[in-house]
Amino acid sequence: MKAIILNEAGSVDNLQFVHIAKPIIKNNEVLVKTISLSVNPVDYKVRSTNGALNWILGADRPAIIGWDLSGTIVEVGDAVTDFKIGDAVFGMANFPGKGNAYAEFVSVPSTHLTLKPTNISHQEAASATLAALTAWQTLVKKGNVKKGNKVLIHAASGGVGHYATQIAKHFGAYVIGTSSAKNKEFVLQNGADKHIDYTTENFQEMVSDVDFVLDTVGGDVISKSIDVTKNGGKILTITTSNLAEADSNKAKEKGVEVEFLLVQSSGDDMLQIAQLMEKGILKSHVSKTFSFNEMREAHLYLEQGRTVGKIAVNI
Ligand SMILES: NC(=O)c1ccc[n+]([C@@H]2O[C@H](COP(=O)([O-])OP(=O)(O)OC[C@H]3O[C@@H](n4cnc5c(N)ncnc54)[C@H](OP(=O)(O)O)[C@@H]3O)[C@@H](O)[C@H]2O)c1
Repeated sequence: MKAIILNEAGSVDNLQFVHIAKPIIKNNEVLVKTISLSVNPVDYKVRSTNGALNWILGADRPAIIGWDLSGTIVEVGDAVTDFKIGDAVFGMANFPGKGNAYAEFVSVPSTHLTLKPTNISHQEAASATLAALTAWQTLVKKGNVKKGNKVLIHAASGGVGHYATQIAKHFGAYVIGTSSAKNKEFVLQNGADKHIDYTTENFQEMVSDVDFVLDTVGGDVISKSIDVTKNGGKILTITTSNLAEADSNKAKEKGVEVEFLLVQSSGDDMLQIAQLMEKGILKSHVSKTFSFNEMREAHLYLEQGRTVGKIAVNI
């Protein structure tokens, strides 16, 4: 099968296109023939730095990176009862861990997948995995965002942000989203009530008494977010597990909870996402598509940090 392997972290040239044997599935796994996959900032981070590569994938080399996939089941493990050969499925395979999704065939625990709704394409499905799960697990599972909450979403035009905006809106929140001016209409179209252009405006002068913040940017955005969050409010950061001591002290004094989340594979959460997509409540905005052979170009594009919605890659 076609696959892209990585022997050590480095430039995009370290992504090597190879032909290798198909994976052999375990009892609890299915073999998915990949139709589309999606890429995320973590892909270029693990590709370019050994620390990130070892942290997420462990020490075995060569490694196959990639976690977001949508495709068709071609083999089913003996212990799998919830899927059959021919099912169209999507999900985030084995995160954190060896996703192995940059390949024509991927072995995935069945508990990481759900059925793909028929009204969405494989590109839209593959996109709504790591980023959509992150939005779901931060806002719904950790944040318990509900009707009437004031929610601030940083980088609302990005992969995580555009799903988070739609999910927060669906749960009845008043949503404030940040991006540069060129993405204002996109952020508002996704359901944000208010847009802040972070390049010309200071969000801490424009919002206050926020119930929930999703930090997708890091740095001083965390400190400034503590300033605008109300006592008893919550900040979920997906950018750092090492909160600066000053920020930690400030948060404690203000009665604001700051928590780091690392997204986890979950077929149960994928089912919730699939149900919203089936009803047309949650949509993937795929702004750019690459072929599998263009994976290096996809990484270079991703690294610019200007992605609107998601990038899909077709096998
Ligand atoms: N911990 C976890 O489990 C987890 C999970 C998913 C993602 N992440 C991390 O979260 C971050 C975001 O991921 P993503 O997939 O959403 O990224 P992304 O799709 O690459 O985000 C790109 C978007 O960010 C916007 N942006 C860039 N700088 C900004 C700023 N200072 N303020 C507001 N918007 C800004 C850009 O809009 P403009 O062009 O308008 O600036 C662009 O639309 C990444 O660092 C990623 O590694 C962590």
